[in-house]
Amino acid sequence: MVKPDLSVEIGTVKLKNPVMTASGTFGYGEEFLPFYDISRLGGIVSKGLSPLPREGNPPVRIVETPAGMLNTIGLQNVGVDAFIEEKLPPLRERGTTVVANVFGETVREYAEVCSKLDSAEGLAAIELNVSCPNVKHGGMIFGNDPTALAEVTRACRAVTRLPLWVKLSPNVTDITETARAAEAEGADALSLVNTFLGMAIDVERRRPVLTRISGGLSGPAIRPMAVWMTWQVHQSVKIPLVGMGGIVEATDALEFILAGASAVQVGTSNFVHPDAAIRVLEGLETYLARKDIGSIRELVGSLETRVEV
Ligand SMILES: Cc1cc2nc3c(=O)[nH]c(=O)nc-3n(C[C@H](O)[C@H](O)[C@H](O)COP(=O)(O)O)c2cc1C
Repeated sequence: MVKPDLSVEIGTVKLKNPVMTASGTFGYGEEFLPFYDISRLGGIVSKGLSPLPREGNPPVRIVETPAGMLNTIGLQNVGVDAFIEEKLPPLRERGTTVVANVFGETVREYAEVCSKLDSAEGLAAIELNVSCPNVKHGGMIFGNDPTALAEVTRACRAVTRLPLWVKLSPNVTDITETARAAEAEGADALSLVNTFLGMAIDVERRRPVLTRISGGLSGPAIRPMAVWMTWQVHQSVKIPLVGMGGIVEATDALEFILAGASAVQVGTSNFVHPDAAIRVLEGLETYLARKDIGSIRELVGSLETRVEV
């Protein structure tokens, strides 16, 4: 039997398969090496990188919730320089496809990190995390305002030739507005979605569970909303999409692919099963073989919405 073709293209980025791991849930890949060969994945996305190292927020910064978790890690990371010098070379030698996730508190910080990554060897793309407060504008979140999102996308586009993926926030009224703003400024692809804002309360202590009060909700709890947003954005832009939000199994990944995503990322599920992404990959292979589908690309955006008669 001929093996199904799992390779996909996100613009100019060729991936051996559509299964990646999501930023912040897979570190820089090292911790997962005892579990499987991470170069089997379509790619990995680094933890969000800033100009300088950051320690993140004080604990408590993670809490389990029904079908998911809330986190307020606070963008802890090694900083872009240490990433380029220490984390990237072993991944490159291993043949792992790496996308660098980037954030900043100002447009200038975003551009500074992108400019440094531009000259790093062995990166497939940059993914902009725009779910960050803009300190120059009173803490407004970049990704919640199409104008601010356009500005940060434009500034990063100007300093790098690497493919630029903009990762959309779901905490907006109409996600197609921010999607179109990023596309208009030259984004090569859109990743969606980041976490949904939420909070949990300890009723015994009458205190928020998380030290920073609110956090980002992820995991299966958000999947239907993330799939719906993927479908909406697919109908609004021409650039490729990378879908995520609560993917645990291959069928979850297929929901995003049918809704229009060319690739997917597995996030919170890595905390439950370190080999979650490989399980998703193997499940996709089985699905294609069972359905006698030659290439996963045939499925992208192929959702049938006409009423059956
Ligand atoms: C602990 C944790 C840390 C995260 N850190 C980042 C980050 O640094 N940058 C980013 O763009 N998204 C970050 N995310 C969001 C995930 O990449 C992903 O968009 C989100 O969790 C939805 O996918 P999931 O339900 O599969 O986890 C983080 C999520 C979690 C749970």
